Amino acid sequence: MLSTNPKAKLAVLVSGTGSNLEAIIKATQNSKYPAYVGVVISDQKEALALKKATAHQIPAVFVNPKLYDSREAYDQMLASMLKEYKVDLVILAGFMRVLSPIFVQAFPKKILNIHPALLPKYPGLHAVKEALESGDSHTGCTVHFVDEGVDTGPIIAQTQVSIKKGDTQDSLHARIKEQEYTLYPKAISDISHSLLIQKLKA
Ligand code: GRF
Repeated sequence: MLSTNPKAKLAVLVSGTGSNLEAIIKATQNSKYPAYVGVVISDQKEALALKKATAHQIPAVFVNPKLYDSREAYDQMLASMLKEYKVDLVILAGFMRVLSPIFVQAFPKKILNIHPALLPKYPGLHAVKEALESGDSHTGCTVHFVDEGVDTGPIIAQTQVSIKKGDTQDSLHARIKEQEYTLYPKAISDISHSLLIQKLKA
């Protein structure tokens, strides 16, 4: 059901610095943007991203994996929590855990991720390093739906980034992130928009 607020409610899951989170929050500050960040959740107590959320008066919650016996127990708890928050979309922004089927099945086609490579090339944790060492002339970033695999879900949008002579992992990753800050808010906007239209028709 659509609430009185005609915007999609986002949960953003983070583990680190949260520069993508910041870009998303900035985009939502435009009154025409079709979504807002309702909650930010981290598996890392000290994640800078949690502080950034708090600075914007967004509920920021640390959910400690150590309190759960298994990945599934943690993910089940996370899914129940997000259902209680009544989120429309789950946005992974540097969340460093692979989500188990229990979580993915709780939000079918409602979980988005951003990956620092042109998927299906270089899935996994070392995407920037692998692209740099590949001899490829370019890499990029990908927004995709999350399925039960690692970075295997349907692709929503991509941007290319040139690999320059003398690039290090840091310099290349920084240029990829610059593109992520535009690509991710735009993709979230597009998906939120379609979701709201679907809800209005339902
Ligand atoms: C980004 O490069 C994103 O592609 C990857 O994790 C990084 C998150 O960075 N999934 P930040 O925390 O948003 O700065």
